[in-house]
Amino acid sequence: MSNNTSLMEKIVSLTKRRGFIFPGSDIYGGLSGTWDYGPMGVLLKQKLINLWQDFFVLSQSNMLMIDSAILMNPKVWQASGHTETFTDPMVECQFCHNRFRADKIDLKICPICKKTNPFSSAKNFNLMFQTFVGPVSQDDQILKINRHDLEEILSQQPGEEININYDNFRTEKNPNLTYLRPETAQGIFTNFKNIIDVFYPDMPFGVAQFGKSFRNEISPRDFIFRSREFEQLEIEYFVHPEDWQKSFDHWVELIKQWYQLIGLKKNSIDLLEVAEGDRAHYSKKTIDFEFNYPIGKEEISGLAYRTDFDLRNVINFSNKNIEYRDKKTNQSFIPHVIEPSFGVERMLMALLCQAYTEETLEDGSQRIVLKLNNKLAPILVVVSPLLKNQQSLVEIAQRIFQDLKQSLKYVQYDDNGNIGKRYRRADEIGTPYCLTVDFQTLDDQTVTVRHRDSAKQERVNISSLKEYLVI
Ligand code: GAP
Repeated sequence: MSNNTSLMEKIVSLTKRRGFIFPGSDIYGGLSGTWDYGPMGVLLKQKLINLWQDFFVLSQSNMLMIDSAILMNPKVWQASGHTETFTDPMVECQFCHNRFRADKIDLKICPICKKTNPFSSAKNFNLMFQTFVGPVSQDDQILKINRHDLEEILSQQPGEEININYDNFRTEKNPNLTYLRPETAQGIFTNFKNIIDVFYPDMPFGVAQFGKSFRNEISPRDFIFRSREFEQLEIEYFVHPEDWQKSFDHWVELIKQWYQLIGLKKNSIDLLEVAEGDRAHYSKKTIDFEFNYPIGKEEISGLAYRTDFDLRNVINFSNKNIEYRDKKTNQSFIPHVIEPSFGVERMLMALLCQAYTEETLEDGSQRIVLKLNNKLAPILVVVSPLLKNQQSLVEIAQRIFQDLKQSLKYVQYDDNGNIGKRYRRADEIGTPYCLTVDFQTLDDQTVTVRHRDSAKQERVNISSLKEYLVI
C-alpha cells in the first residue's frame, strides 16, 4: 500500500469515526457514489458555503443569487447540449462485465479481474440521471406503429396466435422524462430573462447559485472526489463580449485569493489551461484549478469562458428575446459568460487532506489533529470542568458554556473521560480552543485555554474570553 493510499484511508476513517462523512445508505450495504454528512460534516460544509457566499456574493457589489429547481423542463438539457454531449467514454470487460471510464484506465488490463486485452470499443455513456415527472414510469413507453403494419397484424385469422414483430414498432421518448440536473448553471441561464426584467443590473454582473447536482458517474471513486450526488457552487458572470478576457483574468485572481482565504497553501494549487480537445462542449477557454490530493493532482474547480453559447441556445429553444440593452449606449447584445464553478466535495476533501496531521507532542504522546482554518472548524471551543463530579467546577463551566454558546454558537460541552481524552477528541475534529475550569478558577476567575496547533496552555480571565478567542 502506498503512503498516499494509506493517508487517504486514514482520512476516510477519521471522517467516519468523528461524524463528518458516512458512506451513503451504509446500513443497507451502501450505494456507491453517495455520502451522508454527519453532525461535524454538516457544520464544516455549511461554514464553507457561507464563506463562499460572503466572499463571492455578499462582499461584491454586482452579484445576485438564485435558487432554482433541481427538476427542470427537459428542453433545458436539449438546449444546453447535455442530452447529446454530456457523455463519458465507457468500456466493458468481456470477462467480468464490469464497466469503466475508458479515459481513466489502462485499456490493456481489466482493473478488477486482471485479464489482458479485455475491452471492446468504447461507447458514449450519458451521465444524466433520468427520472419521470408525474404518475408515469419508464414502462409507460410510447410505442408507435404505422397503420399499414398494424393492419397486417390485425389481418391474421381470428383464433390464431398473433405474431408481433417488434421491429415494426418504434419507441418514442416519454414526454414525462426529465433529468436530475448535472450542473446548477442551467438554472441561472433559464432565469436570465427574469433577472433582467426584474433587476436590470448594470453590466458586468454575476448570478450565483449553490445546490445539489447529480451525475451517473461510470466509476465513482476516491472518497467524495467523484460522487454521483454532490454540491456545486457556481457563478455565471455576464459581460460585454469585448470584455471577456479582462473579466476572465480578474476571476483567476479572485479564485486564487479564495483558496488562500480558506487556508489552502499557496503552492498547493496549480493552474492548468485545458487543451481545446479536452474542454467541455460549451467552453472556448478553460482553466482547471488543481489541488495536490493524495490520489494525485486533480481538478478542484474550473473557470470557463462559455461565450454566448448558453444564452443563444435558450433564445433558440424558447423563442424569447433575451438580449441585454446597455443603459449608456443603448446597444443590444447577447452577453458572454465567464463561469467559475466550484464543487463542495472537492474543496472539503482538499481541506481535510491538508489539515490531517499526525504528530508527536513534546511530552512524547502521539496525536492526530485536523489543522483546519478557525473560520471552518466545526466546533470553535470545547468547554470542560476538570472533574465532572465537582459541582463548583461544573457550575462555572456550564455558565461559561451557555454564555459562549450565545455569542460564538460553535461551542461544545465535554465532560467525558479524562482531560487528555477530551483534547484528543477536540484535536481530531479540528477544534482550535479547549477551555478547562479547574481549582485555580475558583481562586482567580481564570481558565486554562489550550491551543490546538501548539498544544500550549495559557490562563485567561473568564471576562476576557470572548475577545481572546479568535474566529
Ligand atoms: N457548470 C460547469 C461544470 O459543471 P464541471 O467541470 O463539470 O463544470 C465543476 O464541474 C466542478 O464540479 C468541478 O470542478 C468539481 O469541483 C465539481 N464536480 C464535478 N463532478 C463532480 C463529481 N462527480 N463529484 C464531485 N464533484 C464534482
